[in-house]
Amino acid sequence: MNHPIFAANWKMNHGPSEARAFMKTFLTQYPRHYDRTIIFFPPAACIETVDREVDGRSDILVGAQNIHWEDQGAFTGEISGQIARDAGATVVLVGHSERRHVFGETDEETARKCAAAERAGLRPMLCVGEKLEEREAGKTEEVVLRQLRAGFSRLAQMDAFNPLVAYEPVWAIGTGRTATADDASATHGVIREELKAIVGDRARAIPVLYGGSVNAGNAPALLSAPDVDGVLVGGASLDAGSWISIVRTRLTAEIAAEELASGE
Ligand code: PGA
Repeated sequence: MNHPIFAANWKMNHGPSEARAFMKTFLTQYPRHYDRTIIFFPPAACIETVDREVDGRSDILVGAQNIHWEDQGAFTGEISGQIARDAGATVVLVGHSERRHVFGETDEETARKCAAAERAGLRPMLCVGEKLEEREAGKTEEVVLRQLRAGFSRLAQMDAFNPLVAYEPVWAIGTGRTATADDASATHGVIREELKAIVGDRARAIPVLYGGSVNAGNAPALLSAPDVDGVLVGGASLDAGSWISIVRTRLTAEIAAEELASGE
């Protein structure tokens, strides 16, 4: 398994003053960890605030929730990859299910946004996932593969690039329903195979996160499932205490090392 990633998607919650207060609480209770990376996706207006609080800590990254596919121009209300980068982001969510299903974002737009992220020097975290009716119709694999292929189709240098993927079944987002670790792992395996077809052996280094009603209770099982390299968390990342208990999840390697040390 890759070095695990814990990503917090705050969606349209926490303005600058709440973000500052959250980060102060979080940072005092969460010392630097070398075995995991945290990513915060705050609203665009707080990227700079969160980045300033993080103060260069290398185990914590800041990302944007969305960018426009053009680099600049008359697009009122939008931010570009360059603007996000300038504010302190190094990662950007692309194709989150709310962008796709609330705002009607298409596969083609996700492709253009991934390409815009590449131009701006941001790592895109491409989100893929099937709706309930697609799952029930046995179309999970077809949908996820279509979104994955389309999303990365316009990258200039996929080979030299370092994207991330998040598998988020739409029926599990904000609903309290989580895919089982086995279900998640099965789809992650399909994603990994497709990534291998796209980038060969480098596919192993592309983190594939799971998202959808992740909390401190289900995170350990999800994170120990094969091919699950991290979690993308919405609701349970909004409260600093809840988020701290998720990011402190004991990893399988950690538990095994402790057992070895205690001679079990
Ligand atoms: P949730 O959201 O954890 O509240 O289900 C996850 C997401 O939308 O990224």
